[in-house]
Amino acid sequence: MILVEIQNINHASYSNKSVARYWASYSDNLLYGEQLILQSLHDQLACADFADIGVGGGRTTGHLAGKVRSYTGIDYSQPLVEACRKQYPNVDFHCLDVCESLSLGESSYDFIFFSFNGIDCLTQAERDSFLKNAFVSLRPGGRLLFSSHNYFKASLPMRTREALLKLLMQSVAAPYRPRVLYHGILSFIRYCRLKHHQRVADDFASLLDAAQGNRELLAWIDPVRQINDLECHGFNAITVFDWYGVLVPSSHLRRIDTYSVYYLCQKSGGA
Ligand SMILES: C[S@@+](CC[C@H](N)C(=O)[O-])C[C@H]1O[C@@H](n2cnc3c(N)ncnc32)[C@H](O)[C@@H]1O
Repeated sequence: MILVEIQNINHASYSNKSVARYWASYSDNLLYGEQLILQSLHDQLACADFADIGVGGGRTTGHLAGKVRSYTGIDYSQPLVEACRKQYPNVDFHCLDVCESLSLGESSYDFIFFSFNGIDCLTQAERDSFLKNAFVSLRPGGRLLFSSHNYFKASLPMRTREALLKLLMQSVAAPYRPRVLYHGILSFIRYCRLKHHQRVADDFASLLDAAQGNRELLAWIDPVRQINDLECHGFNAITVFDWYGVLVPSSHLRRIDTYSVYYLCQKSGGA
């Protein structure tokens, strides 16, 4: 029951028109780490049927659609899919939830990309369903690339006192900006309403995202646990990069200094 509720919190947030407007207006640059990793895969991408999952407002579409054999943008937020279709009328976009069984089809893609920590919108159970779906939908030799928050850089859940202090500081810093104050108050109310959903375990945390006004619960995962999960789902050739696209040796997985981490892995088989 709680899992369903959490899924609904994040889905409701991305389906909200003002949140969708924010992501649709997001700068359409590839992030530095994405550029480096995708550039190194240039040859494979050129002959790949490519799924861009959690495509949001299409930040990555313009950079990728012309560089792959076929491109499909996927998101579960209807307003975001509509924004993508408007901006790229000749590109294929689907509105679907990638955690639903077989939502990505069987042996449909050579490359799946879930960018900008989109996978962290999922609960632990949904994350498992997504990895299962991704594995089934990749062809042998196909690759999955995603980024995810680094558990070791997560802050502990804010206490109510701290959230209130933040609101007070905002009102002192911006006394003549009623919009800032209004959003600060909304954020505090959301925090009070949702704080009991937050969880911190030894290798996984689910925390409210203050940067998005406490609308979403996002996951933070220990890279060692993430690699284990990928292996359990049948993926191999797992490579880890920090946020700047620098390769991380396996001895340093718990010492990565960036807030997010990239994972690239492969379904065995193929040429
Ligand atoms: C952090 S945003 C990133 C958006 C975009 N990739 C970017 O970098 O600008 C995460 C995206 O994942 C989408 N998303 C989250 N869970 C999803 C799911 N279960 N199925 C499909 N899309 C999902 C959200 O709607 C949102 O657009």
